[in-house]
Amino acid sequence: MKATILMSKCLTVLGIESSCDETAASVVRLSVSDDDAHTLSNVVHSQTADHAIYGGVVPELAARAHISHIDGLIKRAMSDANLKFHQLDGVAVTAGPGLVGGLLVGMMSAKAIAMAHDLPFIGVNHLEGHALTPGLTQGLKPPYLLLLVSGGHTQIVSVDAIGQYKRLGTTIDDALGEAFDKTAKLLNLGYPGGPAVEQAAQSGDESRFKFPRPLKGKEGCDFSFSGLKTAVRQQAQKLDDISQTDVSDICAGFQRAVVDTVTDRLGNAMDMFADAHGNVEQKTLVVAGGVAANQHLRNGLDYICHDKNYHLIVPPIELCTDNAAMIAYVGALRLARGDVDGLDMSARARWPLDPDGVPMPFAGVKA
Ligand code: KG4
Ligand code: ZN
Repeated sequence: MKATILMSKCLTVLGIESSCDETAASVVRLSVSDDDAHTLSNVVHSQTADHAIYGGVVPELAARAHISHIDGLIKRAMSDANLKFHQLDGVAVTAGPGLVGGLLVGMMSAKAIAMAHDLPFIGVNHLEGHALTPGLTQGLKPPYLLLLVSGGHTQIVSVDAIGQYKRLGTTIDDALGEAFDKTAKLLNLGYPGGPAVEQAAQSGDESRFKFPRPLKGKEGCDFSFSGLKTAVRQQAQKLDDISQTDVSDICAGFQRAVVDTVTDRLGNAMDMFADAHGNVEQKTLVVAGGVAANQHLRNGLDYICHDKNYHLIVPPIELCTDNAAMIAYVGALRLARGDVDGLDMSARARWPLDPDGVPMPFAGVKA
């Protein structure tokens, strides 16, 4: 829906995020003339501890926890920004993709605020939030290449312009963070698995076990991690009475296989992006999502960026993981362009950023 926006110099937007296991609220102010923005407040409540004993996010628990926390977080985001609702120009909320129970909690809150204060409502695609974050943190403008690696998503996206995205690759099964979490669960390392696997791998021998590099050397930029996960399980089962050294060596071997696979797929994407954007002098790779915290992966990205002559940008980790500042920012960008939604908008469990991207039926809600 298009709305006529009075072209004030700045737009101040409240953003709300509740698509997975983080409840978050933030206020961002955008300068309409140059799309530069700054964050006035940003609060996040992580539910990691609630889900830890289950080894993964339990949707019903997540939705209930969002209900418990969302009002308090919105209140804090508004008071940290020193604003009242009537001083806002719009309310943005993650409308998908994600867990529907959680999405509904955020959307109902955002719609209620928009309705009560007669404010424009913007239902934001969570992936667009991750994709445009470097604009908020580093002032980076498209085009650039994005690697999104989180617990729910593994994608390579060509960010051609604001609102124009081409998905170059995605996972055909598990997300990368999920592969880390499942590996950790298998080895009794706890949840979330990524940091635990990275820690265990530090003292490991990455060459002791040879794990597969799924799709490595193949055309295209898609990912697959389920075969790697199975290979890890089979290896662990072969070692009865598994020692701490065995665990460390498995983690190191797994991590090596992950980095080799990701850099191989990314190399193809970098070539595709370079072909499509030959006129862009300094090509940039942005990495987002919780797995971006992995130092081993970052070293691999440094290497491939150097090799392919790309500049690597990693936003601060608290804005790589799920947050509402990215949602408020996208909301403000869309509001500035008069692109707002009706209060009848529905939550969307699946919502590809690239409408031409082929659906991946075996990738859960992640593709
Ligand atoms: O973006 P994020 O915080 O949220 C969701 O996807 O909801 O990503 C969380 C994922 C988890 O799967 C976690 O295991 C992974 O990021 N992760 C890591 C590391 N830190 C977090 N994976 C590998 N190495 C890490 N250091
Ligand atoms: Zn996310």
